[in-house]
Amino acid sequence: MEVKTIAIIGAGAMGLGVAQVSAAAGYEVVLNDISDSSLERAINAIKKSLEKMVSKGKLAETEMNDTLARIKTTTDLEAACKDADLLVECVFENLDLKKEMFKKFEQYCKPEAILGTNTSAIPVTEIASATNCGDRVIGIHFMNPVPLMKGVEIIRGQLTSDETTEVTLDYIAKIGKEAAIAVDFAGFIVSRLLDVLMNEAVKLVQEGNSPEDIDKAMRLCAGHPMGPCKLLDLVGAEIAMHGMETMERDFGDRYKPHPLLKKRVLAGLLGMKTGKGFYDYK
Ligand code: CAA
Repeated sequence: MEVKTIAIIGAGAMGLGVAQVSAAAGYEVVLNDISDSSLERAINAIKKSLEKMVSKGKLAETEMNDTLARIKTTTDLEAACKDADLLVECVFENLDLKKEMFKKFEQYCKPEAILGTNTSAIPVTEIASATNCGDRVIGIHFMNPVPLMKGVEIIRGQLTSDETTEVTLDYIAKIGKEAAIAVDFAGFIVSRLLDVLMNEAVKLVQEGNSPEDIDKAMRLCAGHPMGPCKLLDLVGAEIAMHGMETMERDFGDRYKPHPLLKKRVLAGLLGMKTGKGFYDYK
């Protein structure tokens, strides 16, 4: 099966990044969200990212314009799904919502379309259980910031077919990324390790360490590209909390999110997306 058109459902930080890298690789992209304002914000963010690449000489201006021309937007979910060969779901980390969306994808998409989920922690089989087409459902876990991170986790659900996996791996290679295959348990590989690291960093803050020193220590003493407090600001505190809750549900108390992490989420200190986390982004 040849993938030509990709539907991306959800135009937040991940969805817009997936739209950008897919269009840059030559795919026709349909980006969907529930409001025109979210779609407008997403297109502006994609433009800004591409302009940054042009200004650094990493991309020609014509390529930027061609990439933008390949991205269509719509608030109509059925229209977004209609022509898609591959769909990448990037909506909120909420199991009920994802199940509801996948039921609609099954109804609106072509019978051969591949249905990918960008969930960061929910087992793919659980999401696929809302459909009667588990063979076509697969985890395609992109990393933030999507245009810069080379790796993508690919997760086969219990019923995911070889063909679905092969077509998905071909897509990942065509967008210039490398796939790491992860087994379908809560948190997969990346969130299982990073969410625990970030939750632990929150405990360190509670104990009196400064976010600056935690980050400095992990950059300079452990060689991490960014410290865990900065990383939490990048991925969003609510995403890490949800990942911990999913792992706690499946593996027990040792994955309990720290109360301070929950409190920070309730207070809206999500990180870059709200302008304030451990650091200020206003
Ligand atoms: N688009 C285009 N260019 C961008 C960009 C964007 N969105 N963001 C940054 N850039 C450019 C910068 O302008 C810069 O260009 P030059 O090198 O030419 O100056 C370059 O990219 C590097 O950026 P920075 O100098 O700001 O930062 P850096 O060198 O520290 O690298 C980083 C940034 C790649 C994000 C690095 O810090 C890193 O790898 N961090 C770890 C990120 C990570 O772990 N991500 C996974 C999180 S888990 C997840 O996402 C999954 C989940 O489900 C939660």
